[in-house]
Amino acid sequence: MAESFAVKLEERCYLPDPRCRANARVPDYAREYSEFVRDPEAFWDRIAQELEWYGPWERVREWNYPYAKWFVSAKLNITTNCLDRHVAGPRRDKPAIIWRGEEGEERTYTYGELHREVMRFANGLRSLGVEKGDRVCIYMPLVPELVVAMLACARIGAVHSVVFGGFGADALAMRINDADAKILITADVGYRRGKTIPLREIAKEAVSQTPSIERVVVLRREEPAVEIDPALEVDYASLTAKAAPDCPAEVMDAEDPLFILYTSGSTGAPKGIVHTCGGYAVGTYYTTKCVFDVREDDVYWCTADPGWITGHSYVVYGPLAVGTTVVITEGTPDYPDPGAYWRLVEDLGVTIFYTAPTAIRMFMRYGDEWPAKYDLSTLRVLGSVGEPLNPEAFEWYYHRIGGGQCPIVDTWWQTETGMHMVTTMIGEPMKPGFAGKPIPGAVVDVVDKSGNPVPPGTGGFLVIREPWPSMMRTVHGNDERYCKYWNTIPGCYTAGDLAVKDEDGYIMIIGRADDLIIVAGHNIGTAEVESALVSHEAVAEAAVIGKPDPLKGNVIKAFVTLRVGVSPSDDLTEDLAHHVKKSLGPVAVPAEIEYMDRLPKTRSGKIMRRVLKARELGMDPGDISTLEE
Ligand code: WTA
Repeated sequence: MAESFAVKLEERCYLPDPRCRANARVPDYAREYSEFVRDPEAFWDRIAQELEWYGPWERVREWNYPYAKWFVSAKLNITTNCLDRHVAGPRRDKPAIIWRGEEGEERTYTYGELHREVMRFANGLRSLGVEKGDRVCIYMPLVPELVVAMLACARIGAVHSVVFGGFGADALAMRINDADAKILITADVGYRRGKTIPLREIAKEAVSQTPSIERVVVLRREEPAVEIDPALEVDYASLTAKAAPDCPAEVMDAEDPLFILYTSGSTGAPKGIVHTCGGYAVGTYYTTKCVFDVREDDVYWCTADPGWITGHSYVVYGPLAVGTTVVITEGTPDYPDPGAYWRLVEDLGVTIFYTAPTAIRMFMRYGDEWPAKYDLSTLRVLGSVGEPLNPEAFEWYYHRIGGGQCPIVDTWWQTETGMHMVTTMIGEPMKPGFAGKPIPGAVVDVVDKSGNPVPPGTGGFLVIREPWPSMMRTVHGNDERYCKYWNTIPGCYTAGDLAVKDEDGYIMIIGRADDLIIVAGHNIGTAEVESALVSHEAVAEAAVIGKPDPLKGNVIKAFVTLRVGVSPSDDLTEDLAHHVKKSLGPVAVPAEIEYMDRLPKTRSGKIMRRVLKARELGMDPGDISTLEE
């Protein structure tokens, strides 16, 4: 790990409209935070009371470093919180999900309808032999059935593992095998920019490498419907149609696993991050309600795909637990034109909008005229997540989308944290470039290697000091990898990000400290891309770095040495790109491939990516005493 370093801080600051502070769910951040610090257990106890439980907790938390339990011995099912309790009250006919397809087609599910769909599909899964604790893999496009599938698993206590529909067959197979999933749920196709993505074909290829999969449920969208293979596949619609309409929720212990979600690791294999039922429900409920300040008549749109944690926590579980109306779309921001998102905001009267900096920078590039064509005056709160929101993008978002009226919550968190950890709560002064302060409920700091806080203006490692309800409980099948998060810096959870604080305690995220590359908000591990490249017959060795990019934050650059007898060519470059795409999916394809005679290595044979990166950026490579020659 690097030593601390000095950082120049921006000095801009926006004072919010005092009205938005007075009306906010958390009207006084400092007071709420000190209430949390005074008694963390009482703080979370109060929040948990707002949810529905089958049985009470004996203790709010049990902290056995580095393992935590929350709401010890309490019983619940997250879906009764997301569905039943709304249906029993005045939200039965309130839209829960409004979906829009690429060509403008629309489907709405009220809470009552979503509840019924979930129960039917849950019974369908049961009829396939799925039981509490079984793993179910979901590989679907962004359609309402994806949300139904996740909730149906949760309903019967099956552990879902959603794999983003942009991943390739090998990436999917690796995740299915790691989780030992019994059932795969997919669709014939996804639609993207007027083209179809053959999800079922990719799934078939993956399943040929996954002995644990017993059945594949296929949602058929194309007409005429594709024929399915009765030995392996089950039709989604007939499974649901045949199923009984009523499905009582499985009583889950607060510490039973709810889902596994894979994130890139700094070594080859992705990590299956495990989240549990109780703490995750409480953490996502609280942050959705308070960070976004959700009101009864809000129309809430988080643009993330449920294939990522943002979609789990802030498309599905948090917003439905709060009982808001959630917008989802299969469409992309600039198809059929760059006004697509703003048209949707206008048409549906979106009030809360949560997206990624990479999308904001793309909109900036298309120009102000696109948002200007639409009525965006319903917007009330803007959010950002996934990578640093640079000050220029902040300014543009604030003025062009928010009309200078909407607070921006730049939320820092991770797959591992499950919920927001750092942001600027509504009503607090906003500083472009800074995510903000720890949310009430989180103890976040910037420290040196030994865990000592660094002074303002000095960069260091972003850490979390105390356990929090929605923290990951382990890495699936690999406790050792879990423990590494907590024993790298003494006494702290190490997030793997570099950050800096200012005099007021505002935190600016600088970027990753490890071998992860964040491309357009997606986490990509260097090792995964390297091993995909090396699996090509022409490649001897590969090293991958992240290269700063004005639009995507980072792009992947690969350095490749070829096997004897193979020479570089444009055809080969194209072939390598295709090879990575097929194996890992389009998100992991290098933007640039450079051929080299040899890669810089340490004397012990480790590739020095840092040297390649420094050379690429024209920077000093730092200590190269271990370099081979
Ligand atoms: C980065 C996404 C700066 C960070 C929720 C983190 C951010 C990684 C922000 C986790 C933000 C996320 N500002 N960087 N507001 N939010 N990151 O697991 O490097 O997909 O460690 O979770 O994204 O990515 P993940």
